[in-house]
Amino acid sequence: MSRMHRRLALGLLTAASALTLLSGCSKQDGSTPNSSEKPKADGAKEPSAPKSQVRVGFSQIGAESDWRKANTESIQAEAKKRGIDLQFVDAQQKQENQIKALRSFIVQDVDVIAFSPVVETGWEPVLKEIKDAGIPVVLTDRAVDVSDPDLFVTFIGADFVEEDAGRGSGWRRRPGGNAKIAELQGTPGSAPAIDRKKGFEEIIAGYPGLQIIKSQTGEFTRAKGREVMESFLKSPEGKDITALFSHNDDMALGAIQAIEEAGLKPGVDIKIVSIDGVHAAFEAMVAGKLNCTVECNPLLGPQLFDAVEAIVAGKPVEKRIVTKEGVFTQETAAEDIKTRQY
Ligand code: AHR
Repeated sequence: MSRMHRRLALGLLTAASALTLLSGCSKQDGSTPNSSEKPKADGAKEPSAPKSQVRVGFSQIGAESDWRKANTESIQAEAKKRGIDLQFVDAQQKQENQIKALRSFIVQDVDVIAFSPVVETGWEPVLKEIKDAGIPVVLTDRAVDVSDPDLFVTFIGADFVEEDAGRGSGWRRRPGGNAKIAELQGTPGSAPAIDRKKGFEEIIAGYPGLQIIKSQTGEFTRAKGREVMESFLKSPEGKDITALFSHNDDMALGAIQAIEEAGLKPGVDIKIVSIDGVHAAFEAMVAGKLNCTVECNPLLGPQLFDAVEAIVAGKPVEKRIVTKEGVFTQETAAEDIKTRQY
């Protein structure tokens, strides 16, 4: 697709005009529209000029957690399935690497740029460059903090505040009326760390018996979760900790090791609630070491490429696409684990 065509598609997208809706580019099943197939009178397709492959540049944060690995796998597998030319770049947790990758996608003149931003702020200049180049942007998993909402077409991902504030009912049930809580936060400045903390604080504000006595980043990794939990337990307040809220499963799994090394029983002496719902968290629940995990679905590939294909076809796309998720506890973990996909 030439830049001119892409600008035209974007214009149509913004206007969501009747012409766009009648353009007939879309298939019922949501698969890539194929310009080489002209409908015959009887509805069968006949080939004409070769179809130009949709090209997407995707900048991934890294591979810090099982969640992220499942997310990468979902995106790569879905692109392959749909025959999309995916330029995938791993930023290794660095915003500067993501910005470099985004600029390289402009040079490559891809049809759509998608990325999962490691932190919320600092994206405005590069997003303006992308907009000037006429390339639509899709955000997946994490949001950006920008003043101009037209710098991206859509944001697909979980509601991180709601993960705690609403569906985090698991949290409210687990520690009971009173708890001295240790909190393991995600990557500083990242949307899930900011929003999960916010949602959690909103919850406990309504429960005077719930009190955060330690809080620090474990950077979403198992190794750091273990290290920080160990330091919490060795601190003067360590012996008072009765519950742990971890912004993701990997840090909770690391903390479980630290709790065991301190001679305590995770899930019993210290109740644990975390977020993600990865397979290893279900194993920990079955073993009685984790009390609850609130799902954050990483399988965003199908929704991402549905959006990409709609954009390329000039069809309107929702500004916010929220993924559906659940809350899982120890009680049903042995059954739930049988059907987990990641
Ligand atoms: O942005 C989603 C978060 O990033 C996941 O909860 C965490 O595990 C990941 O690394």
